[in-house]
Amino acid sequence: MPITVTLLSYLVSSVCCIMALRGLSGPETARNGLLFGVAGMALAIVTTILLPEVHSYGLIVLGIVIGGSVGAVIARKIEMTALPQLVAAFHSLVGLAAVTIAAAAFLNPVAYGISDGGSHILFGSLIEMSLGVAIGAVTFTGSIIAWGKLQGVITGAPIVFKGQHPFNAALGAVLLGLIVMLCVTQAPFAFWSIIVLSAALGVLMIIPIGGADMPVIVSMLNSYSGWAAAGIGFTLQNNLLIIVGALVGSSGAILSYIMCKGMNRSFFNVILGGFGGEASTAASAAHNDKQAKIGSAEDAAFILKNAGSVIIVPGYGMAVAQAQHALREMADILKEEGVKVRYAIHPVAGRMPGHMNVLLAEANVPYDDVLEMEEINRDFSQTDVAFVIGANDITNPAAKKDKSSPIFGMPILDVENAGTVLFVKRSLGSGYAGIENELFFHDNTMMLLGDAKKMCEGIIKALEQ
Ligand code: TAP
Repeated sequence: MPITVTLLSYLVSSVCCIMALRGLSGPETARNGLLFGVAGMALAIVTTILLPEVHSYGLIVLGIVIGGSVGAVIARKIEMTALPQLVAAFHSLVGLAAVTIAAAAFLNPVAYGISDGGSHILFGSLIEMSLGVAIGAVTFTGSIIAWGKLQGVITGAPIVFKGQHPFNAALGAVLLGLIVMLCVTQAPFAFWSIIVLSAALGVLMIIPIGGADMPVIVSMLNSYSGWAAAGIGFTLQNNLLIIVGALVGSSGAILSYIMCKGMNRSFFNVILGGFGGEASTAASAAHNDKQAKIGSAEDAAFILKNAGSVIIVPGYGMAVAQAQHALREMADILKEEGVKVRYAIHPVAGRMPGHMNVLLAEANVPYDDVLEMEEINRDFSQTDVAFVIGANDITNPAAKKDKSSPIFGMPILDVENAGTVLFVKRSLGSGYAGIENELFFHDNTMMLLGDAKKMCEGIIKALEQ
């Protein structure tokens, strides 16, 4: 294939990736965005396979068949609630790929065209390679730890030890020294030490992160995986890898920033660790002597039917129960009865960015009824009923009041300001952050205990009677 055709294909592929990101920024355009992404990647793979440097296709085809089959099976089977850990696992593979490619290039620089013709690697290539391999190794081990925490294999609570920050800082300084040493001397000792030290740093950076901050970390690792790919793109002198790596790196960084804003966290504090943690007891002490008011589907139907306005707050439990269709049906009946119904979306509701938007869109909830936290939060005080379905942490006032709480500082949906708060969940148990919610015991709260989908179906039945 002539070089101009290759470059043109890579350009088209890059534009497809940009269009994919653009499309994925909104639920109405997300499907088209995905199609652009698939087309861009397919074109990139075909173009790369047709490069003149590629002489044998056997191993490449084998890799595509094995990787493609595993990917297809996982994509079909995966529950949407398990996506964050899957994303973390995939990031680890990007990091590992960056490390192994760098190692191959380091061991055989002539084949990769990064030497002066002999075994001496060009200075610029050594810089690119050392950064790519360091970020790749951090991403590899960091993502494995993130996967373990999200999957529940490793404790979600922060793992901290005395002198952790100075120790990490010292490790970072040694790593920097090794990178300089590699660039100046090309010593194999420096290259392999960078991998070992970066891998250790990846573990140490992620273990102190508490459960509630994991979403930010997953998107941060997403960003790292992009930068690792871009670094290796320089080593391989592949323009497309550089462009796509930079796109992933920068979009991941922007997403991390948005999520930090949503969680009211300083980005650097999250990276340096120690947030989240043991269950707070302060909230529970406040209601030891109080009983929660428990209601039935019929009670809820009566309250909802007689309300002028209702704000629905969906959370992780709605996703688990797959209650979105029954919920929309319930909302449709209420609207027919003249009730104003809207949905309030917290930026970290569920288990992945946009989780609730995707589920509500799947159930054909009109986009105009779905409002982000900052658009609707003030309206709770003028709303008759807040219908909280499978959500917990994102409504917990401990985030405002309890300094010892792992979610302290996170903005919440102010459901307590509504006339009545209906909570649909199976028990009085805690949510992701593992802390109690004093709202369950407030005078204007009624608990509707049961599976979210079954409860909605019960309410629909009662509304129709
Ligand atoms: P959570 O605080 O996790 O609360 C969900 C509630 O749903 C639980 O208390 C659970 O109570 C209930 N539930 C579970 N299955 C249910 C079912 N079948 N029917 C009815 N209820 C059910 O969820 P949230 O309010 O959406 O907050 C999200 C949390 O996840 C935040 O702490 C956030 O930091 C974290 N997180 C978010 C993300 C992203 S990016 N969104 C990623 C990872 C973690 P019962 O057991 O009593 O039913």
